[in-house]
Amino acid sequence: MAVATADPVRLPPAPRIPKLLQGVGFVAAREKSVAALAKRYGSAFTLRLPIFGDTVVVSDPVLIKDLFTTNTDLVARAGVLGEMFGPGSTFSLDGTEHRERRKLLVPPFHGKRMASYEGIIEEEVLRETSSWPEGREFETMPSMMRITLNAILRTVFGAEGVALDELRELLPDMVLHASRLAVMPPVARRDFGPRSPGGKLASNRERYDEIIARLISDIRNDPNFAERNDVLSLMLHARYEDGSPITDDHVADELLTLLAAGHETTATTLAWTVERLRRHPRLLARLTAEVDAGGSDLVQAAIWEVQRTRPVINGTARIAKTRIKLGEWVIPKGHAVLASISLAHASEESFADAKAFNPDRFVSNPPDNHAWIPYGGGVNRCLGAGFAAMEMDVALRTLLREFRFAPTDAPGERHQNHGVSIAPARGARAVVYRRTSAASGDRVSVSAADHGS
Ligand code: HEM
Repeated sequence: MAVATADPVRLPPAPRIPKLLQGVGFVAAREKSVAALAKRYGSAFTLRLPIFGDTVVVSDPVLIKDLFTTNTDLVARAGVLGEMFGPGSTFSLDGTEHRERRKLLVPPFHGKRMASYEGIIEEEVLRETSSWPEGREFETMPSMMRITLNAILRTVFGAEGVALDELRELLPDMVLHASRLAVMPPVARRDFGPRSPGGKLASNRERYDEIIARLISDIRNDPNFAERNDVLSLMLHARYEDGSPITDDHVADELLTLLAAGHETTATTLAWTVERLRRHPRLLARLTAEVDAGGSDLVQAAIWEVQRTRPVINGTARIAKTRIKLGEWVIPKGHAVLASISLAHASEESFADAKAFNPDRFVSNPPDNHAWIPYGGGVNRCLGAGFAAMEMDVALRTLLREFRFAPTDAPGERHQNHGVSIAPARGARAVVYRRTSAASGDRVSVSAADHGS
């Protein structure tokens, strides 16, 4: 872990490009410019960015482990997401308050409980894909967004009926709007009347609060409240050590946080899964055979490899609360330290032939927690990692059971910023056939060659 120090500042090398140009490069082509700097300077370098300030970028697993295990008296989570979700959001809490909240939220997201949601995920995948066209190319990303939205609304919010319909209509647009404003200067979020971006943010929030207040009241009045299995009910039952509950306002902030953090990230990863697998027909055939035989190792390894090669969040940052020593570097108070997920995953030292898409690297060999970091790490590690893993496993398994995905030799889709995550630029296009239909031919040729990385 990093420690506090009075040593003179010693930052990793910084490119000699003017700050403004660095900023333009970072915003316009973040992936490419960061990859180019890593090539030149290695696994630690300093970016001088307008607005964000000086940022140390690290991708070496040892430094990443040090950063993630650093005491929260010395580093804090960076970013303004908390501001978007409200003071009761996990993203707004730090130190003891954050620790106590996580203590209440971790049990509802525990692995065993996740298994009880599998039926709902399968139902949502089947419902959404029942209208998929056969033999005609279409974008799968919108379907993935609807599947993961409905999955969270039903399992986390416990929503059904009118509340489910209202939230389904309000939330995607509300979260997209909020995440766009999150990366703008604070003035963009101010309420200058109903037509201003800040005004829309405020009116969306008012409507959301009204729906959630009704939902909470309905759930409390449910004669089966004590037995309910959704995360909202568990949050309403949870008590801090002093016996107090999470207030309803904080519950509303937290539900919004869980949805914003978990909906698009999971959908985008599923979309990349389709994008990758169609370009690897041999693998696709092996996965289908494994699912038919009731196995799971290759499916799991394929999801890990999609997350390694196409991480949907490319980094997570902490701010130094005081001067800290991280490895050989001495970082002053106020600097951000960004653990670059994309650089860590592209490291040849951590992953042999890192450019290749090769799930076999993870078969019977789970990824290392500090080299493979799609969910971040330490006290802020993704709370919904178990939920996302369960959801992606069930979704992929169901898709492979129901459909034959036609392989393609089209070049891989480019990366595109999409709300909170990085998505395939063409929407993860696919051509599918129902495995029950005559047109399917069902068998995918195992001899067809996979198409590179
Ligand atoms: C593939 C899907 C997902 C990915 C790639 C992902 C990724 C991440 C990352 C990178 C972080 C920041 C961790 C850090 O700073 O160290 C994070 C935090 C978080 N995620 Fe996820 N996430 C996913 C799905 C979910 C889901 C399904 C939920 C909930 C239903 C969720 C809830 C959260 C929350 C609450 C945090 C904040 C944790 C804290 O600061 O204590 N995420 N996630």
